[in-house]
Amino acid sequence: MTMNTRSLGKTGPRVSALGLGCMGMSALYGDADRAESIATIHAALEAGVTLLDTGDFYAMGHNEMLIGEALRAAPAARREQALISVKFGALRGPDGSWSGYDGRPAAVKNFAAYSLQRLGVDHIDVYRIARLDENVPIEETVGAIAELVEQGYVRHIGLSEVGAQTVRRAAATAPVSDLQIEYSLISRGIEDEILPATRELGIGITAYGVLSRGLISGHFTRDRQLAANDFRAHSPRFQGENLRHNLDLVDALRKIAEQKGVSVAQIAIAWVLSRGEDIVPLVGARRRDRLTEALGALDVDLDEADLAAIERAVPAGAAAGERYPAAQMAHVER
Ligand SMILES: NC(=O)c1ccc[n+]([C@@H]2O[C@H](COP(=O)([O-])OP(=O)(O)OC[C@H]3O[C@@H](n4cnc5c(N)ncnc54)[C@H](OP(=O)(O)O)[C@@H]3O)[C@@H](O)[C@H]2O)c1
Repeated sequence: MTMNTRSLGKTGPRVSALGLGCMGMSALYGDADRAESIATIHAALEAGVTLLDTGDFYAMGHNEMLIGEALRAAPAARREQALISVKFGALRGPDGSWSGYDGRPAAVKNFAAYSLQRLGVDHIDVYRIARLDENVPIEETVGAIAELVEQGYVRHIGLSEVGAQTVRRAAATAPVSDLQIEYSLISRGIEDEILPATRELGIGITAYGVLSRGLISGHFTRDRQLAANDFRAHSPRFQGENLRHNLDLVDALRKIAEQKGVSVAQIAIAWVLSRGEDIVPLVGARRRDRLTEALGALDVDLDEADLAAIERAVPAGAAAGERYPAAQMAHVER
């Protein structure tokens, strides 16, 4: 299968036009099936996906070890095509609690040393702090990653959920390949300031939450029961009246999808793909059937009439509820 590719900014690597986000295979969306997760990573590599995204704090190293296991079990050629993007910096307790971020240079190197071991690789392709550590100037955090680049342990410097000012300061310190940030039909916050800044600086976007964590995938039902450890059980967009309103938006999208003979998830992913060659959507598939559906989005062409119909169905700002609970909103786009 031939996979479309896109560049992660002007200094980053060329990657598959869709990346695989592995978070849900370990954490945050309830239980996942380990064998099916590994089979999904293998199927993605087989289909030509080259970008795998993780965080060292996704179930405290679990997700990195899972990816390491999948890579070891993959044929050498598939293993070698994989580019691994790792987020670090979130501090966890043994009970899974969250206690802030650490972007101090010594911490950055410590996080990286452990990630290399868990992944079983000799370098990380893109390395980024998950959230700005408000106590450490971004220049120091990025400077530490730049030293890891010089030493060969990291190939490219990324950013995650930072605002335009921080993007500019980071880019003035060292070359930045991409900013990872939420972007979807119902999360368009980057369009006003952040996207113009990344475009001016030649920095790519790896977009996460393109299905808004399943909300606009077409598979999320009004009566779905969520486990207490599922992020969505506490996410404003998935609560009560907000959920009803947001799923009405999905119903409007479904009509367009049906007319085009594609699925809702494919429309939502194709919409993000249509927003620019500098944007690489990360899809959070953790089963092979979901992956196959997501990859189908690469074949969906949205013309001007389709895009206008989508805009009418889901206008900018149409979602009810913020994309994170209030305490977590305080740490995004900083
Ligand atoms: N930088 C950051 O702050 C940040 C934050 C969050 C995530 N991320 C990264 O971005 C990646 C993607 O984020 P996400 O998982 O929230 O994104 P997503 O793709 O919006 O949501 C994934 C969810 O959508 C559901 N889904 C339904 N149909 C799907 C399909 N065809 N393909 C894929 N998923 C489908 C899945 O549910 P079921 O499995 O229940 O079917 C899954 O739980 C993560 O894995 C992580 O690597 C980064």
